[in-house]
Amino acid sequence: MEIKVIAGDIARVDADAVVVNLFEGVEQAGGATAAVDTALDGAIAALIRRGEIKGKFAEVSIVHTFGKLPAGIVAVVGLGRSEDFTADRVRGAAGEFCRALRRLNCHKIATVLHGAGAGGIDAGRSAEAITEGAVLGLYTFARYKKPEYEDVGEMLIVVPKEDEAAALESAVHRGRVVAEAANAARDMVNEPANYMTPGQMAEAAREMARRHALEFKVLEVEDMEAMGMGALLGVARGSIERPRLIVLSYKGDEGSQQALGYLGKGITFDSGGLSIKPSEGMGDMKQDMAGAAAALAALGAIAELRPSINVTAVVPVAENLPSATAFRPGDVLKAMNGKTVEVVTTDAEGRLILADALSYARQMGLSPLVDLATLTGASRIALGNLYASLFSNNQALADKVLDAARRTGERMWQMPMPEEYKEQIKSDIADMKNVGNRQGGAITAALFLAEFAGDTPWVHVDVAGPESSPKESGYLVKGATGFGVRTLVELALNEAQRQVTI
Ligand code: BES
Ligand code: ZN
Ligand code: ZN
Repeated sequence: MEIKVIAGDIARVDADAVVVNLFEGVEQAGGATAAVDTALDGAIAALIRRGEIKGKFAEVSIVHTFGKLPAGIVAVVGLGRSEDFTADRVRGAAGEFCRALRRLNCHKIATVLHGAGAGGIDAGRSAEAITEGAVLGLYTFARYKKPEYEDVGEMLIVVPKEDEAAALESAVHRGRVVAEAANAARDMVNEPANYMTPGQMAEAAREMARRHALEFKVLEVEDMEAMGMGALLGVARGSIERPRLIVLSYKGDEGSQQALGYLGKGITFDSGGLSIKPSEGMGDMKQDMAGAAAALAALGAIAELRPSINVTAVVPVAENLPSATAFRPGDVLKAMNGKTVEVVTTDAEGRLILADALSYARQMGLSPLVDLATLTGASRIALGNLYASLFSNNQALADKVLDAARRTGERMWQMPMPEEYKEQIKSDIADMKNVGNRQGGAITAALFLAEFAGDTPWVHVDVAGPESSPKESGYLVKGATGFGVRTLVELALNEAQRQVTI
């Protein structure tokens, strides 16, 4: 889809549909909505009076113009109550109106800037949010099935003045780059596990490196053996697919030795291993590489936006299957940092592969570290589908990630890491065991990872839950969400900014 900012009068634009908005509770529409209403001889005002158009958030009302406007359709999108308004609601509204108009076969959509007037957000933020919402909301995964509707070909963001239009181009560019990166992550996550094996994931990363001119390296089994990555190798032993450790680097600040490290859990399929999961819902475990996909896709977007900072993604990838060669409950694995781990259940595999990835990232000198992982069902039980849980050994870094997440609308909630719970992962025969009891399961998983992060500032985001959406809503569609990509990009941009201003 092409997205352009143009100067003009929304009521006079040549398009299949034009989009204006209404806040909930507003009886007398103003601005562009009023202008379009006048051209429609008061049809919108009449529908508001009749209570058909209420302005409820993400409500899309279709009004046919029958020749009164060049566009055949006017869509009035609800922005909700003005006191609840956020930039994320612009994303959500854009996702909804784009899908509604696609269902009506509109190929060319023109929209006003939402929320830049009465909503009080600035024009750049609005243009960026509309772009993100449209690109994310129109996403479809169509590799194995013809899509139901034809693509929207073009979206025009219409502003009154020429100079304003030019100023918004960079906001649209940024919105498009991050949303397309999130969609790239969605593609990887939606791909079934027979088409997204560790080898194929490494190939996808290689292709991404080629496209964005990133440095690329893959550690193979022999390298892992040489480095003593017994935890990652242990998890991978049940599959005939060899594990990989993918390293993608972006160099935006050649003068600096410092680099941010982004890690992601890359289990391309989590059957649970010998501690096998119930078959119901097991198919969803193709999504167990959502953290890895997010870290890789974020690097692609960062390379496009070129902030002056270095960022490296370290992504361990393996498949967790039961077999004659699989690791077993009761086994002891020796991780790269020398620590021994008693495997109580082979289904707590994510923390094992991340343990070695964290050691490797620290050996590379990456700091600070942020990992994304579909780590525990417990996180999803605690916070549901809309929130990721966030853990950290460094509050200043946690605050930076939470700030970035607030701006992107990716909701994260910080959890505690009480020392006392470490008791739960003490083992009788090894330095630690890979699970605690059921209570506080997301916390003990984080405490396990903390042992490998050591004193490097580190944030762990458990994305089990928000990595996929059970339904179409706002800018989310059913299936993979690409959660985390936009926050990782935002964090890198913010960090680059900080270094410049110091
Ligand atoms: N990949 C799962 C966690 C998960 C569950 C992600 C549901 C998304 C949705 C992870 O590897 C796992 O199996 N965790 C176990 C840990 C337990 C055995 C301590 C879990 O959460 O049940
Ligand atoms: Zn598991
Ligand atoms: Zn898993």
